[in-house]
Amino acid sequence: MHVKDKVIVVTGGANGIGAAMCRRFSQEGARAVVVADLDEEHAFHVAEEIGGLSLKTDVCVETDIIRLVNETEKRFGPIDLFCSNAGVAYRDEPLGMATSCSNENWQKAWEINVMAHVYAARAVLPSMIARKQGYLLNTVSAAGLLNQIGAASYSTTKHAAIGFAEALSITHGDDGIKVSVVCPQAVATQMLGDFDDGGPQGVDGILTPEEVADSVIAGLAEETFLILPHERVRLYMQRKTSDYNRWLNGMRRLRRSFLE
Ligand SMILES: NC(=O)c1ccc[n+]([C@@H]2O[C@H](COP(=O)([O-])OP(=O)(O)OC[C@H]3O[C@@H](n4cnc5c(N)ncnc54)[C@H](O)[C@@H]3O)[C@@H](O)[C@H]2O)c1
Repeated sequence: MHVKDKVIVVTGGANGIGAAMCRRFSQEGARAVVVADLDEEHAFHVAEEIGGLSLKTDVCVETDIIRLVNETEKRFGPIDLFCSNAGVAYRDEPLGMATSCSNENWQKAWEINVMAHVYAARAVLPSMIARKQGYLLNTVSAAGLLNQIGAASYSTTKHAAIGFAEALSITHGDDGIKVSVVCPQAVATQMLGDFDDGGPQGVDGILTPEEVADSVIAGLAEETFLILPHERVRLYMQRKTSDYNRWLNGMRRLRRSFLE
């Protein structure tokens, strides 16, 4: 898909990767870009800058997503590309165990990183299937393919997000629906700032949100399911599937090296 003349929604569009995608879609000639976020102020600024529309949306609330879709379609017509990009990450705190994250944060991670993708797909698929075209782009993470040391709730929910995107593609590919997941490692955003403690997140380099947006444009043009801004992740995936035990040993070694 080329985004020129397309109607596009981006959740989590107020900041970081989502804001970079909004700007890039606009530069590429999208007909409408809707910036959906809980952060009303920054969403407004991004929309103002690109001549788009901002809509306050809590992606955990299904009625908010339905309203976002209805409002977009009322103003601009059918949605061509829906980007479920909003996400949250929590560390394994306070004890550094895989179970340490509070139940409340596990639940939030599940709702924002996974259920929001389900709500979005549920809201846009009927119209996309009727038109035999439509694109769902979900921002996941390399943590959903590999793992993120020190972030069990993030890694687990991002794995679930990959599972759901695969299910969308398998179930609705024959309906004309395209699906991609963008799975970066570290990206210089507020999320990384909150998270980074000099740990292993940045070992393969930290990309800018604009570089991730470049990968998204290229991945959408190729309509490839797996968009990897850090190409090295493909090699790690191959290692993981070819010898799971060896891969786990390597991850333990990496974890230990950051504890020393
Ligand atoms: N930064 C990284 O290193 C990195 C790496 C891999 C994947 N990702 C993924 O990229 C996506 C974007 O993250 P980012 O790095 O740009 O972080 P960010 O914190 O800069 O942006 C996240 C945006 O999501 C919004 N958001 C959070 N909860 C929301 C909710 N309930 N409803 C609506 N909006 C909500 C925030 O207001 C914010 O604007 C996330 O899914 C994240 O998991 C980030």
